[in-house]
Amino acid sequence: MTSSAPPPPPASTDGSRVALVVGATGGIGAAAARRLAALGFDLVLNGRRESVLAGLAEELSARTVRGDPNEPDVARALADAVADGVDVVVHASGILKGGPVRQQDIATFDEVLTTNLRSVYAVVHAVLPHVRVGGRIMLVSSTSATRPMRGLTAYSAAKSGVNAFAMALAAELEPEGINVSLVSPGAVATPMMDKSVNAFSSLTADDVAEVIGWLACLPPRMVVPDVTFRAPFRGPFVSMYGGSGTEGLDLSDLRAQKGYS
Ligand SMILES: NC(=O)c1ccc[n+]([C@@H]2O[C@H](COP(=O)([O-])OP(=O)(O)OC[C@H]3O[C@@H](n4cnc5c(N)ncnc54)[C@H](OP(=O)(O)O)[C@@H]3O)[C@@H](O)[C@H]2O)c1
Repeated sequence: MTSSAPPPPPASTDGSRVALVVGATGGIGAAAARRLAALGFDLVLNGRRESVLAGLAEELSARTVRGDPNEPDVARALADAVADGVDVVVHASGILKGGPVRQQDIATFDEVLTTNLRSVYAVVHAVLPHVRVGGRIMLVSSTSATRPMRGLTAYSAAKSGVNAFAMALAAELEPEGINVSLVSPGAVATPMMDKSVNAFSSLTADDVAEVIGWLACLPPRMVVPDVTFRAPFRGPFVSMYGGSGTEGLDLSDLRAQKGYS
């Protein structure tokens, strides 16, 4: 390697472990923060909404950095907050927005790419010098990265970009003993899905947090490039959530069974 960057800081010797959760004010981020706190991690939480962030921080005795990591000041503050070392980095912020390309303006494309993809790079770039040997970076992607959705071209492209970034990053960091894992759920019942015109069979945010907690406790020798999972589309464990539009999956018979109009 020709890089002159300093090596990552070593794992903590006193057994304490630190996790950074970006997007902790969201459904998945908050569930992940609660799960990691229950597992004994000291937390640094990020999000933009002040009252939500403060409430969660008080509940979990966490430190906070408020704002959008795409802002250089916020990225610097994140780096400062984990300057003594961080073992787990979870990126769980993003937006689900857009429409068919014929109706979607370029500003919307830029916004979706900035929030879902550039933010991932901004966070990783800022905190990477402080990720400890044996640490794990978890990027919340989506099944739409590998199964792109019509009407969500920007979102699908952004998540696909996250996947490519994660794979390239993993190749860079494996020699240093740092893991990179994609967490790729299908539909999850969070505020993000409240805006969906489609009704989906959905996971819960706690399901995703369970995967994040599992990854966080794996030994560093276990390389897990991607955990892809979804709710069932049929059968007894279907759990409908979201809107009741006619686009997307054809779940009309299941809607009827569940009493949705
Ligand atoms: N819900 C699903 O069905 C689903 C499925 C697969 C993957 N995912 C992914 O999971 C992650 C979390 O989603 P979620 O379901 O938990 O959504 P959510 O409840 O809507 O939370 C979104 C998070 O992103 C932050 N955020 C929103 N807009 C932002 C912006 N412009 N700049 C910076 N931060 C912004 C929000 O916090 P503030 O507004 O406080 O900043 C919040 O913390 C996202 O990457 C999403 O794509 C979700």
